[in-house]
Amino acid sequence: LTDITTLLLSRIRDVADYPEPGVMFKDITPLLADPVAFTALTDAFAEVAERTGATKVVGLEARGFILGAPVAVRAGLGFVPVRKAGKLPGATLAQAYDLEYGSAEIEVHAEDLTADDRVLIVDDVLATGGTAEASIQLIHRAGAEVAGVAVLMELGFLEGRPRLEAALRGAPLEALLRI
Ligand code: PRP
Ligand code: MG
Repeated sequence: LTDITTLLLSRIRDVADYPEPGVMFKDITPLLADPVAFTALTDAFAEVAERTGATKVVGLEARGFILGAPVAVRAGLGFVPVRKAGKLPGATLAQAYDLEYGSAEIEVHAEDLTADDRVLIVDDVLATGGTAEASIQLIHRAGAEVAGVAVLMELGFLEGRPRLEAALRGAPLEALLRI
């Protein structure tokens, strides 16, 4: 393990049976509370933004806002929020996706992305990939390109990576930690 991997792993707390029995929740609040770890994470994501030629950072509500906004500032890029449905006041594009039980919908302000944009999508966790896949579809529908998807953790056993492959059109999925 590299130093940064060890540092980040040490600041993620496993919470058993949360939010329901049988689920091991990955709590990133210890990482956020540690300025050295949070800065190292931000720098690692900003490096991905620079390497992939991103022009905007999209953060996925809610934890992707916390991680993505400082990446945008560090990389000198604009930040665009992808929100859960009903929260954005302007003209939006909406994308529905399936959850284990039921469905969800996310939105983006259409005017925040243009055909000249290359977007780095930032989130904390890639699990089933449903949220990330819907966000990629939103960005494409807005006419922009996806420069890549960057997550702190990829939960490999949930097979989000193969789910995203077609939607990514060759753009990289960068996971700092694979669990
Ligand atoms: C969690 C997590 C990711 C998503 C991953 O968000 O932060 O965004 O689930 O799951 P998936 O790959 O199966 O789509 P959630 O909406 O639960 O909560 P949040 O608002 O705290 O980010
Ligand atoms: Mg989330």
